[in-house]
Amino acid sequence: MHHISRRGMLAGAAAVALGRRAIAQGAPIKIGLMLPFSGTFAALGENIAAAFELCLAERGDRLGGRAVTLVRLDDESDPAKAPQNVNRLLERDKVDVLIGTVHSGVVMALVQAARERDVPLIIPNAGNVAATRELCAPSIFRSSFSNWQPAYGMGKALAAKGVKKACWVTWDYAAGKESGEGFRDGLRSGGGELIQVLTLPFPETNFQPILAQLPGLGVEAVGSFFAGGGAVQFVKDYAAAGLREKLPLCGSGFLTEGVLKPQGAAADGIQTALHYGDGLDNAKNTAFRAAFKQKTGRDADVYAVQGYDAGQMIAIGLDATKGDATAVKPLATAIQAAKIDSPRGTFTLSPSHNPVQTIYLREAKGGENRVIGVAADALADPGTGCKMNLP
Ligand code: PHB
Repeated sequence: MHHISRRGMLAGAAAVALGRRAIAQGAPIKIGLMLPFSGTFAALGENIAAAFELCLAERGDRLGGRAVTLVRLDDESDPAKAPQNVNRLLERDKVDVLIGTVHSGVVMALVQAARERDVPLIIPNAGNVAATRELCAPSIFRSSFSNWQPAYGMGKALAAKGVKKACWVTWDYAAGKESGEGFRDGLRSGGGELIQVLTLPFPETNFQPILAQLPGLGVEAVGSFFAGGGAVQFVKDYAAAGLREKLPLCGSGFLTEGVLKPQGAAADGIQTALHYGDGLDNAKNTAFRAAFKQKTGRDADVYAVQGYDAGQMIAIGLDATKGDATAVKPLATAIQAAKIDSPRGTFTLSPSHNPVQTIYLREAKGGENRVIGVAADALADPGTGCKMNLP
């Protein structure tokens, strides 16, 4: 069990008492949505929030019998502001549940708060492996992926094609590093090797110095993690540098997810691996895509799916506790036991609360990330170091 200070315990007890009174008085449950609504990941945050709202609307904007009040906060994908932002949601806005965020550095402040105060947290994107490894907790769940998962699938698929040597290009922060480790492990599983990792600071987009080095590395393929605005620029610059024909570019699916329109023809032919893709034929996906399009005018992407599933997961938890967000144990037991009927296909959670899911191989063509195969079936993050007295 993790350490809780005396102050934390008193604050926790007070919160439980307040929470019970609020439920008795029929007060709405408050959910804090901490996401990037500006910066390179702004579009990701918008799709997560819109799909979360869609999920709530399908439930009459009630969870566990209580009306829901949403509080949105723009975290700007800025780790330096994260502790203060989380505090604002908990202290000023008095939210009962936390949903967030996209960036793997920013999510650490949410993880810390969820651990210290036993507040339910659903992570609708950020893949920081620690959240479901050594920092796992009963109150913390992910509706998305660990950074290791999609990149592992990509490395495995690449090695299966006979690639022996590859490099990884990414931003220098947790998501870039951890996805590089997944890529390395996937390559190794099929006899390939990751020989170099090239990085630039987040969220910079001056890719020229890195692009200039690639032809001299002696690799057969380039793997990469970028997302949002940065991914648009990287894919365009890669094509403009004339590298597409010489060195196939691949990556975690975020490289081409939700960004194919601005990438245009520069993305055509790029293969990526992700737990979602275009052309997945299941009833949930068809209904979800139509409803999301109707609400937003945009096509759904993996971020929308993860936002929607964060809604489904917290709904399952709060239904089990009749709207009591402080009853973390039964809430967690219900989510842990659930089969989530996701647009990506049904998934369950690993013992450390991370989705066990199919990683699809996709190829970008004509504005779509077409699913062309399975990169890794029922893939679970290793969950290394997660010690949780699981309910
Ligand atoms: C992350 O920081 O964990 C992250 C950000 C954007 C993505 C995927 C992962 O698309």
